[in-house]
Amino acid sequence: MNTQEMVQDLNSKFQSDSIRFGIWENSDLPTIFVANKYCQGAVSVFGAHVLSYIPAGQQEVLMMSKASHLAAPKAIRGGIPLCWPWFGGDPQPTHGTGRIQFWNVTAVIREADGSDTICLTLSIEEPHRLDASLKVNFGKKLSITLNTVNQGDTAFVLAEGIHTYFSIGEISQCFIHGLGGAKAENRVDNTEFVAADTFGFEAETDNIYYSTSAITIEDRAWNRKILVEKLNSNTSVVWNPWIAKSQRMPDFGDEEYHNMVCVEATNCAGAKIELAPGRAHSITQLISVL
Ligand code: BG6
Repeated sequence: MNTQEMVQDLNSKFQSDSIRFGIWENSDLPTIFVANKYCQGAVSVFGAHVLSYIPAGQQEVLMMSKASHLAAPKAIRGGIPLCWPWFGGDPQPTHGTGRIQFWNVTAVIREADGSDTICLTLSIEEPHRLDASLKVNFGKKLSITLNTVNQGDTAFVLAEGIHTYFSIGEISQCFIHGLGGAKAENRVDNTEFVAADTFGFEAETDNIYYSTSAITIEDRAWNRKILVEKLNSNTSVVWNPWIAKSQRMPDFGDEEYHNMVCVEATNCAGAKIELAPGRAHSITQLISVL
């Protein structure tokens, strides 16, 4: 099925006043568009990847790179990539295969409170028999829950991440609150440290925090605070590629590091999940503008 046929098929399967299926601008991504009293948003069927979340009366919360690939089979740069069922570059492809496959749209639900939930699923055989399902609720908050079921006969060590790119006014005027006291690993120089209550950015940042706490992103340039809560997540990753890495990434603009920060709900590094046969695990990230 080509993209246009996929969109037609979805439009004939699911009817809702607040949801339509189309193609993301200047792309080849079949996309679910949501508009309700709380917000507007969009989810790509490729990668089950949230592309946009605009709460009513607010600016866009998510950052999408203008240099991103916007067609299968390459990963999308920006929005909310899912890292699944592993995190990082070992094995390849980096951050797992979930973000580079087409998912099945299984339901679009108009909730009683007027929010909308989109449900997508993916089953894989390699490296293990796993079922994933994603529920994205577009409401006063954006809520993303990724559930994994081990369908194999042996245990599986799962690593995962909801790798959200936040749109900000200027990284040098952006501060992270909520991680104070957490044990942390700096993945740029491979050192360990204990997080301060509040910190800013002045170099490439790629830190893993052993923390279950909510994080507040304080964006002084746009005078806005974003609350990032999470459930069943024992690590948070904070990432900004800064100057040299931005220049090395072909799908990211040289200057775009100024206008983004990734705050990721994860279970990675020393906090992977051992999933016994038949067992399920879910991770949730909740995003709201304060
Ligand atoms: C972060 C990692 O989560 O994702 C970084 O900690 C990585 O090391 C970044 O560079 C982006 O990864 P990718 O595969 O999307 O370029």
